[in-house]
Amino acid sequence: MRTDIESTPLVNMIQKLRCMPENQLADIIQMHIGVPDFGPPDQVVKAAMQAISTEDCYQYPPIQGSARLRGMICAKYSQDYGVSVIPSQVMIANGAKQCLFQIMMALLKPLDEVLIVGPAWSSFSRQVLLAGGVPVMITAGPETGFKISPQALDDAISDKTRLVIMCFPNNPTGAVLDQAEINAYADVIARYSQLYLISDEVYEYFRFDQNPTSFITCESIRQQLILVNGFSKSFGISGWRIGYAIAPTPVIDASVRVQSLVSGGVCEVMQIAACEALEVGTGHIESAIERYQERADIVREAFLAVEGVVIYPSQATYFMVLGIQPFLEGQGLDAPATADVVAEYLLEENKVAVIGTDGFGLPGCLRLSLCLDNTLIKEGCRRIIDGLASFTPASTESNSSATVVRRITQEKRAS
Ligand SMILES: Cc1ncc(COP(=O)(O)O)c(C=O)c1O
Repeated sequence: MRTDIESTPLVNMIQKLRCMPENQLADIIQMHIGVPDFGPPDQVVKAAMQAISTEDCYQYPPIQGSARLRGMICAKYSQDYGVSVIPSQVMIANGAKQCLFQIMMALLKPLDEVLIVGPAWSSFSRQVLLAGGVPVMITAGPETGFKISPQALDDAISDKTRLVIMCFPNNPTGAVLDQAEINAYADVIARYSQLYLISDEVYEYFRFDQNPTSFITCESIRQQLILVNGFSKSFGISGWRIGYAIAPTPVIDASVRVQSLVSGGVCEVMQIAACEALEVGTGHIESAIERYQERADIVREAFLAVEGVVIYPSQATYFMVLGIQPFLEGQGLDAPATADVVAEYLLEENKVAVIGTDGFGLPGCLRLSLCLDNTLIKEGCRRIIDGLASFTPASTESNSSATVVRRITQEKRAS
């Protein structure tokens, strides 16, 4: 049995919550997961309901995806970004996640290096490992808005690098790219013809400036670009499992061969629903963004006066990151403590689920999802603050700035 297959802390947390009895789960404020708090537009549900009783949907669907859906995805990119994509460059899979993995399986040879531009969603590195590659993360800190410079990207590319992965709007930091930044990164990638770039754009529309950008606009890297996107976030259908990739035809062909061995084509009912979603468009996200803005303000206000917490401004709407490093520094009982440990503690003791971002290449921070209503967000923040109050931040210690006293843990151990 392989022992090197790891799921992510987020998946572990989700599993843990799913295994809880209903009554215990009901007590927990779930700020850990980026599932939209809106469902699909009515027309999309109707289209799915109609499709399910259609005989055409009973059979195995085309492996690459229906011609209609792939055509409509091409039309979206022509309309949104003025670029030409043809259906042979599109693959439909069971979520963006499956697209990513299939592409890695198709592209990577053993020990090929994959540069992950971090902080980044923790599944990327696990998928790279599973596909036989070697993940190498380069991470930017808050001083640069969590974005590496194009020069740093250039410096990190070696002759072993086969693939670069970027995700903007970013999970977890909410960093976004403007067109000039996209062009600058693309200029670097274009210099290395052996390289592919995966751009994960699943949060495309979820930015406060409502001005989506995409690497698809960069003609110079079209032969190197693998764009991954999906319907989970934009249309509130993460449970329906449908996403897509746009890439040069040979990459799509190879990834579709992987898909033929893994799952076959995506359920036709969902493909019909996705067509309807593209027909309806993303107007519903505009009002959602106002709600997310309110929630971001609530979080900011809640933590403003909490000593030891840094609130990092987010330009995208799904997540916010809180720096809690002073709470971790020191030699308390469980030191060196990590944000993951604090997240576990908050779940157990304070009944609030958040994610430590250690696995995202961002140690010392918690990721909060804004996909809950205002009242729950307020209560969630209150619980986090209560939980953090169980630790003494290093800077408030009189004797040693490096000591963290994990009072409750100690008390618990003593009892
Ligand atoms: C960056 C990123 N990519 C992909 C996904 C998964 O998308 P899908 O539901 O389409 O598989 C997620 C889900 O959280 C994500 O955060």
